Amino acid sequence: MSRLLRTGLNAGDSAPMAVIGGEGVYFHLADGRKLIDGSNTGGGLGHRHPAMVEAIRRAADTPVVNEGWTWVGREQAADDLMATAFNGEQDWVGAVRFCISGSEANDMALSLCQALTQRSALATRERAYHGITGLSRSMTVQPQWHGGLAVHSGGSKLPAPMAPVRVLPAPDGAIYGGPANNAPPSEYLADATRVLSDTAATIIDYTQGGIYYDGAYQDEVARCARQAGSYWIADEVVTGAGRAGRWFAFQGAQSRPDIVTLGKSLGGGAAAVAAVVVSKAIVQRLEGSSWQNYGTLRGHPISMAAVSAYLKVVSDENILEHVQTLERLFTRRLLAIAEKHPSVRRVAGQGLHWTVELHGPDWRSWRADTSEVPIASRVAERALEAGAVIGTSGEQTSLFLAPPLVISAREAELLLDALDHGLDIADKEHG
Ligand SMILES: Cc1ncc(COP(=O)(O)O)c(C=O)c1O
Repeated sequence: MSRLLRTGLNAGDSAPMAVIGGEGVYFHLADGRKLIDGSNTGGGLGHRHPAMVEAIRRAADTPVVNEGWTWVGREQAADDLMATAFNGEQDWVGAVRFCISGSEANDMALSLCQALTQRSALATRERAYHGITGLSRSMTVQPQWHGGLAVHSGGSKLPAPMAPVRVLPAPDGAIYGGPANNAPPSEYLADATRVLSDTAATIIDYTQGGIYYDGAYQDEVARCARQAGSYWIADEVVTGAGRAGRWFAFQGAQSRPDIVTLGKSLGGGAAAVAAVVVSKAIVQRLEGSSWQNYGTLRGHPISMAAVSAYLKVVSDENILEHVQTLERLFTRRLLAIAEKHPSVRRVAGQGLHWTVELHGPDWRSWRADTSEVPIASRVAERALEAGAVIGTSGEQTSLFLAPPLVISAREAELLLDALDHGLDIADKEHG
């Protein structure tokens, strides 16, 4: 019996692969195989990037300074974040608070908005995942991400939320580059200002459920939130800090958020770090009333060193331009793959985050009380044979690709070849 309570992105892996090392975009396994790490949103710079290794080595020599004391490296990381990633956003951006995970960042941001507005209700969009602790868990409105908690929470499937949750329609169903919902957002969000009217915050992300950036949608949600007195939080935990092919997905449209949450790539994969970035207006609101909720390991010297090093690598190595180039490669290959495989319902994505949705039961019919291995997990299992690790979205029919941002064009082709190989099994079942 394993003494570890395991969890996993893919259901039903009876013989889980054991990672013993990694280099670049490759995982090294105990059985000697080297597999492309194809769905690792936390591994921005892949494995053992020399600049990250060096930064962490140096940081091991630093004192243990918790969030309650000033640490020069933390001030430096804040300055670096503002000077690089937020360089073009100086007219509205205020200040940053560091923490440990994306879930924690969202929980901090949502609770801050509750305090500032004296409202408790919160809003998100359909098929959202914002994390699995505190208020971020309440805003995760798909049952599969609650796993066993969903099953054990009585008839409702979702565990009881910590605050009333309002759910906006999503810009759903877009094939890459095509329109969502076959209607302008002003039409399907016509009721949004009313829905948001008692909410403290409206939190929107740009990948979950395979629903990607849509500028017109973002501007309309921002307009309605502002009208309703609801703070707009851009959850850029996945897309921020480079994965979207720009520093932030929200930069594609006119509107700017009140709060941005970051995580995953922010530490270059070398440290557990996340952040809450607030506007100047919020900094002003907080003047004279400190936002005092303290975390022992938040802003730890090692994670701060990782943030500064990561931001420098992204700038020095022109990672954003590289991601934009690869977005074109993924678009071309994935559209061809969708055409070749009748089992594929749609592909969508941005930068280096892509979703492949298969025909079959969708997220609404997710069940935890079954041992049947979903088709998406079986496709991923077959892709392993061809040399790549691909994750599912916890749903029955959805896979996602999110390789390290440093993946080369040749490695990207190998990853897509592995997906292509894996999909044969879904075609057979699709008939
Ligand atoms: C959009 C989004 N927000 C928040 C989170 C939570 O981040 P973490 O897993 O670091 O808690 C995730 C994780 O997948 C995410 O996709």
